[in-house]
Amino acid sequence: MDSKIIDPLVEAYIKSMCPPSIDFLEDLETLAEKYGIPIVQKETAQFLKVITEIAKPKSVLEIGTAIGYSASLFALSMGNGYIDTIERNEKMVDRASETFKNLENEKMTSVTIKVHFGEANEILSSLDKSYDLIFIDASKSHYQSFLDLSLPKLNDEGILICDNILYKGMIASDEYVVKRKKTIVKNMRNYLNVLMANEDFTTSILPIGDGLSVSKRRRK
Ligand SMILES: C[S@@+](CC[C@H](N)C(=O)[O-])C[C@H]1O[C@@H](n2cnc3c(N)ncnc32)[C@H](O)[C@@H]1O
Repeated sequence: MDSKIIDPLVEAYIKSMCPPSIDFLEDLETLAEKYGIPIVQKETAQFLKVITEIAKPKSVLEIGTAIGYSASLFALSMGNGYIDTIERNEKMVDRASETFKNLENEKMTSVTIKVHFGEANEILSSLDKSYDLIFIDASKSHYQSFLDLSLPKLNDEGILICDNILYKGMIASDEYVVKRKKTIVKNMRNYLNVLMANEDFTTSILPIGDGLSVSKRRRK
């Protein structure tokens, strides 16, 4: 399907160039496809692997777990450390817990993964750890409050990655906006304006998947 973000032929080519997933991840991709569960796109997954290998975070905070696909990607690339991931849908929490149990049972990573059940804004207020990398991939209208609550937990020189920031091209151009998504578009545009203007961060907007922002926190 045309994401409206880059040329469809180029997008198909980039997807085709991504190496095949290991069986563990492929099973999750199949499950997501079967039940229409949104997980990061293939090229986004590849990017998350690369950035994890470059930045070597020892701690990750994720907002939006779903079935635990992106958290598994982080865990597999990190080797050790801890991940806290937040999800408000109980069925997803159960499935993600199964995913993380399987990762542990198959001894694929030494990373400790904890899935927190509840509204992100509530859970974020109760977490008392700090993180090298924060990944936001949940309700698109609430990125600003997710950021406000999670920023105090991001270490100096930490990385912030947000998915869906171009949301099917709608954030970039009114030409693509559908009426019922107007509020999301407005909120996401405001969020990106605030993020890009934040001098504590160096931020880049990438046309990968549904659009990714990647920010590096400057040393204080
Ligand atoms: C796009 S999916 C996450 C996909 C996952 N990051 C992956 O790629 O494997 C978004 C998830 O965030 C959850 N979610 C959305 N808004 C939330 C909120 N305010 N608090 C907690 N979870 C939320 C949804 O229930 C959904 O399962």
